[in-house]
Order: sequence, then structure tokens, then C-alpha cells
Amino acid sequence: MTILSIAQNEDRARKDACGILSEGGLVALPTETVYGLAADATNGEAVARIFEAKGRPRFNPLICHMSGIAMARRYVEFNAMAERLAETFWPGPLTLVLPLKADAAIHPLACAGLDTLAVRVPTGFAQGLIAEFDRPLAAPSANTSGKVSSTTADHVAADLGNRVRLILDGGPAAIGLESTIVKPTKTGIELLRPGGLAAAEIEAASGMRLTRSTEAAPAIEAPGMLRSHYAPGAHLRINAQTAAAGDAVITFAGKAIPGDEHASIVLDLSPSGNLREAAANLFDFMKRADTAARNQIVVAPIPKEGLGEAINDRLERAAAPRV
Ligand code: TXA
Ligand code: MG
Repeated sequence: MTILSIAQNEDRARKDACGILSEGGLVALPTETVYGLAADATNGEAVARIFEAKGRPRFNPLICHMSGIAMARRYVEFNAMAERLAETFWPGPLTLVLPLKADAAIHPLACAGLDTLAVRVPTGFAQGLIAEFDRPLAAPSANTSGKVSSTTADHVAADLGNRVRLILDGGPAAIGLESTIVKPTKTGIELLRPGGLAAAEIEAASGMRLTRSTEAAPAIEAPGMLRSHYAPGAHLRINAQTAAAGDAVITFAGKAIPGDEHASIVLDLSPSGNLREAAANLFDFMKRADTAARNQIVVAPIPKEGLGEAINDRLERAAAPRV
């Protein structure tokens, strides 16, 4: 496994990545949301390697990353609402689940044989790499299945190590939460996963209320939707009002939790109470708390508005009973 710094040699990073991807290999790369474990979405063996490297128990559908709306049009159908959302939010932390075109060259393993495909256009280096590669990249978060997502190259190296040939280091992910996933339908817009784009922003751009699926475990549910996803090793308790000796405490906006003076570590997601900063710190702090905890990880209540919806979603999953 090699780690290459994009800042130090962007051309080499792009060239080496394209080489490995065209051979059907895996490359971990930074996106503005989280690090992705990428493979050529048109190559079945390459996509199979993703599931193998992550130890994913089932062939769940993956997000296919495009260089822009023009590339996405080769594979999926856009209705007017999808068009509007793509134009407003791409490149960025929004994934659209859209009807797959009949002749689309996406390998069925990437979309788990469904007739829809999740597509998104990442910003920055990742977008340029896909443009150069000229094929979509299937990329789930670069972490072992069921573990906390990676927001730095070091996280990827620590978790996936030699299961990936190349890790591109682009520094800490700017957003720190996976993309928001929506499905525009004939009658509305379904929120499938809260994420790095606040639901309220999508509602403002679309002029529609998002519908939130209340069904637990629908058939197309993917790993991000499993209740115990994003789990650290230590037990995690949310909305904590007290801490015990040896607990690792994650707090927000300087809030003290009674008992936290005996904590093994106290990490504040955002001392100033900024939910964007909290989102960017969340996964790294969960990993650090996990390492430091001699007892449980306890997390102070986090506001639910804006990005707080996605932050609370990830914390609830981390706190859920393990399967
Ligand atoms: O920010 C992100 O979205 C990151 C970065 C790397 O782009 N990627 C990511 O991918 O989180 P992944 O594979 O971990 O999440 C895939 C999610 C699944 O949880 C599932 O809910 C949804 O995408 N998904 C994929 N295809 C779908 C489909 N056809 N219908 C419904 N949901 C789908
Ligand atoms: Mg994931």
C-alpha cells in the first residue's frame, strides 16, 4: 500500500490512480464528504474487490461518482426535479437515486441489480480524476464494514491497510459526513439518508417538503441504513446527562456533563456550537474516543436542526445494539 499526497504531486496522484483503476484495482481517495474506496463501476471484478476489502456482508448498492451531469446522463434518467437538484448542488454532498438507463454500462454488482442507480458528483480532486478516467467510480466510504467512516488518509491506512493499493491523501475531509441521499419521484422527494447537505437546503431549492421513509429495513436498504452501522468498538451512549470514571466524553458547544472530570478524555465537537465544524470532527472524534475510552463513550445532546439531523443519525446508529 502506498500513500501519495495530492498537495505534493497532484499529477502523479491522478496518473497512478488512473493506472490502478483501469487495471481493476482499488484506490482510496478524498472527497469533500468522507474518503471513498473507489473502483471502476463498469468492471464487475473491480466492484467485487470493494465488497471484499470492506468485508461487506451483502452486495449492497454503491454510489457511482460522476464528473458532472453530462456523464451522469449517460447512465441515468433525469426528471425536471432531479435536473434542478443536480444543477443546484453538484458538485457537492448530494446523491440522487435515479432510474438506470436500459443500456447503461454500470456493472449490476454496483447497483445490486436494482433498476435505479445512486449518483453523485464530488468536488475538487475526485471530480477531476473521474473526468480524466472518463468512467464512473463506485465508491463507498473507505472503512471496514460496520466501522466508523474515514475522514483522513491515516484513518484509511489504519483501517484498510494493505487491502487497498493506493491511498491518496487530500487532508481532512471538509464536510466529514457522507452525502445526503434523496430519491426524486413523480410525487415528491424521498430522503433516504440524511447527510452533509442539510434537508432544509434541499427543501428551499426544490420548494418541496422531503418525505422521510419511516420503514425500518426496506429491501434496498444499504449498509449506511443498518441500525448498528458506524459503530466504534466501545459502547456508545447518546444524549448523555452523566459521565462515569473512564468514560470518553464527546460534547458540543462547551456543555459540561456531570462526572466528566473523571473522563479519560473530553472532546468538544465545536466549542462555538457550529454544526458544520461538529460534522467535520464527528468521525475522527468517535475514533479518538474509542481509543481513549476505558469504559463507555458518552455523547452530550446535539441540536437536531440543519446538519444536526445527520450527526444525530450517525450517533444513533453507533449507539444501536450490535447485530
Ligand atoms: O459521501 C458519500 O456518499 C460517500 C463518499 C465516498 O462519496 N459514499 C458513501 O457510499 O457513503 P456508501 O456506499 O457507503 O453508501 C451507499 C448508500 C447506501 O447506504 C444506500 O442507502 C444508498 O447509497 N444507495 C445506493 N444505491 C441505491 C439505490 N439504487 N437505491 C437506494 N439507495 C441506494
Ligand atoms: Mg459507509
